[in-house]
Amino acid sequence: MAFSHAIVEKNAFVLIALTFGVLSIGGAVEIIPLFTIHTTVEAVKGVRPYTPLELAGRDIYIREGCYLCHSQQIRSLRDEVERYGHYSLAAESMYDHPFQWGSKRIGPDIARVGGKYSNDWQYAHLKNPQALVPESLMPKFGFLAETKLDYSDIDMKLKVQRLLGTPYTDEDLANAHKDIEAQADPTADATALLKRYPKAVEASGKTGSVTEMDALVAYLQVLGTMVNFADTSEEQLKQ
Ligand code: HEC
Repeated sequence: MAFSHAIVEKNAFVLIALTFGVLSIGGAVEIIPLFTIHTTVEAVKGVRPYTPLELAGRDIYIREGCYLCHSQQIRSLRDEVERYGHYSLAAESMYDHPFQWGSKRIGPDIARVGGKYSNDWQYAHLKNPQALVPESLMPKFGFLAETKLDYSDIDMKLKVQRLLGTPYTDEDLANAHKDIEAQADPTADATALLKRYPKAVEASGKTGSVTEMDALVAYLQVLGTMVNFADTSEEQLKQ
């Protein structure tokens, strides 16, 4: 043993080869299970891909760093479940690339903030959080309501999501622009949109053009609303 170890210590190349061999075992143990990830996330009824407007809103959520103060992950701890609702299921973030669980909770968890407030509340709060919650330390995001949403490349964004495993169809891609306009205009006919994306919430600051704020509010309003926990038992949640 002592003799064979001397070979390793005296010969740099043998040492490098053996080090590499040992490290690659560690790497393989971490990487190989990722190829079977789809078998570990159970499909749950109601979970659907984001509408193009929600997806655009999600990009703004990431761009503005909202995740630095907000988590989207309700843990199965009693106080969290009592405060925020049913604990988060893996399937609820299966179409999130990358996921937005977050790691900081300077503000409340917003995994189930969808439907908790009206659109008007969300617009007013994003513009001036302190007007609604005086002690809030959330920054003001009013500029989003004055910034037109650039969705010229939204079909490409859907395509990238599809590459990553989100099941957008060719029809979804072809209608991406129309779907954005249908969801951001309260007077538009949303029948086709709702057929493709059930429970999509119309969000509009009524400025005449689609703003970044409209997209962000559409995104916030869908968070945690896809699965109907109220009249679904644990068993029925599974498709
Ligand atoms: C510096 C930390 C910080 C940042 C950044 C931040 N927030 Fe907040 N947020 C808070 C705090 C603190 C509260 C609780 C007080 C309040 O309601 O304003 C809050 C509350 C909220 C609420 C209400 C949650 C509830 O259940 O009552 C929403 C929705 C929200 N934030 C969305 C956002 C979005 C969207 C962004 C990014 C555009 C963002 N926040 C960025 C700190 C932050």
